[in-house]
Amino acid sequence: MINKNLLDALNTQIGLEAHSSFVYLAMASWCDKEGLKGCADFFYNQSDEERVHMLKILHYVNEMDCHAVTPAVPQPAIEYKSIQEVFKLVYAQEQKITAAIYDLLSLAIETKEHSTHNFLQWYITEQREEEALVRSILDKIKLIGEGGQSLYYIDKEIEKINKARMAAETAADAADAPAA
Ligand code: FEO
Repeated sequence: MINKNLLDALNTQIGLEAHSSFVYLAMASWCDKEGLKGCADFFYNQSDEERVHMLKILHYVNEMDCHAVTPAVPQPAIEYKSIQEVFKLVYAQEQKITAAIYDLLSLAIETKEHSTHNFLQWYITEQREEEALVRSILDKIKLIGEGGQSLYYIDKEIEKINKARMAAETAADAADAPAA
């Protein structure tokens, strides 16, 4: 079992991850509409990842003999001023999630919930990697600049980043798979 305060916080986090998944789905759809195929694929993939983050907590809570609650998900923004604005919003979103994970971890430490403390370590690493990835994208966007063909080059860069990330994930999954 998990103490009530921590359980409530974990259920809140399920909602935050679900919201992130929908925010990125909305961004994917907007990029698709704008003809930014590389960015759209990046965000469809990112949306799937956030759903996995949500499910991991949901399964953990139930495994701990508690009840994970499926959340109401607020409507995300559906229109954006530019792709530059989109990635700035992504960075802010990830920073918000990192802060929420840190609060969860602090609560797990205060309440001596060692299993949840251990469980949350995966999220600490994931958030560090996600923030670093988005910062690197923002740096690239800045370097490319805002000239006439910048959207084309930004889209190509994001496509490359997405493909590299998916290949790395596939390799990691294969390494984790039990030997036949
Ligand atoms: Fe699950 Fe990117 O926060």
